[in-house]
Amino acid sequence: MKVLRTAASLRNWLAATTGKIVLVPTMGALHRGHGALITRARKLAGKDGRVIVTIFVNPTQFGPKEDLSRYPRPFAADAEMCRTLGADAIFHPTPEVIYPTGSSTTVEEHTVARGLCGASRPGHFRGVCTVVLKLFNLCRPDLAVFGLKDYQQCQVIARMVRDLHIPVRLIFAPTVREPSGLALSSRNIYLSAEERTEATALRRGLLAARTAFGKGERSAHKLRAIVAKTIAAAPLARIDYIAAVDATSLEPVVKMKPGDTIALAVFFGTTRLIDNVQMPKGGMTR
Ligand code: PAJ
Repeated sequence: MKVLRTAASLRNWLAATTGKIVLVPTMGALHRGHGALITRARKLAGKDGRVIVTIFVNPTQFGPKEDLSRYPRPFAADAEMCRTLGADAIFHPTPEVIYPTGSSTTVEEHTVARGLCGASRPGHFRGVCTVVLKLFNLCRPDLAVFGLKDYQQCQVIARMVRDLHIPVRLIFAPTVREPSGLALSSRNIYLSAEERTEATALRRGLLAARTAFGKGERSAHKLRAIVAKTIAAAPLARIDYIAAVDATSLEPVVKMKPGDTIALAVFFGTTRLIDNVQMPKGGMTR
């Protein structure tokens, strides 16, 4: 497995490869959730294709009061995980490689990125779109794998790819969770033992709403209230938002239909966790 740090070394490596390129963009601090994406990428690439994992803590997607400086960067362990899971290369650039001095171009999606995390984290998705497009241009992938834990990120990138005619196929992979239901996240290490236990309320709340939907409840207001009630039982939790939205446009819905999504963000202290659930399609009574 190659570790590439510059655009030139990446270009040379790509020039010498044949077969499909499958990309897994990450910010490192890899856990089993990222691991599942790499394994999926390995399968998609087959034996002739190549898997590139990018590890880059992208400064432009962090707000001024967010955790950029303390974001974990355990590169050696990350590289070992990538190697074990069969990645062919890690692209691990410095900020100067991604943002050459005097960089003055950004990419912004204006509709899907507006609500939910986009409303709470101004500029976040501009940073994400800009870096993801740069990574696409540098790595020229045939396919790119993203996790549905970051549901809005998936939909924003899908819209950008469509709008800008980017020649890549996007693959969205399911959320990997702890047995408690807590979605794996690089930020879970910030949680105290107590917060970690309480954070299981996110998944429980979302599942309670999904069950109510299964029994016929369609009111977005009532379904959101079910989630809120479960989370309110966790005293350390502070709800940022609980939103019931259309699966692709992320426009708020009043009456939920199969495929619509409930997405949320909840603070535990300064740690902000996100999760989501999709209302089941098919097999429902109504
Ligand atoms: P990061 O938070 O490191 O996540 C990298 C990828 O792993 C994303 O596609 C994310 O959705 C996925 N992922 C995270 N936790 C997961 C879990 N529990 N199960 C499955 N997949 C999971 O998302 C980013 O980095 C950045 O915004 C990035 C796209 C790399 C741009 O900087």
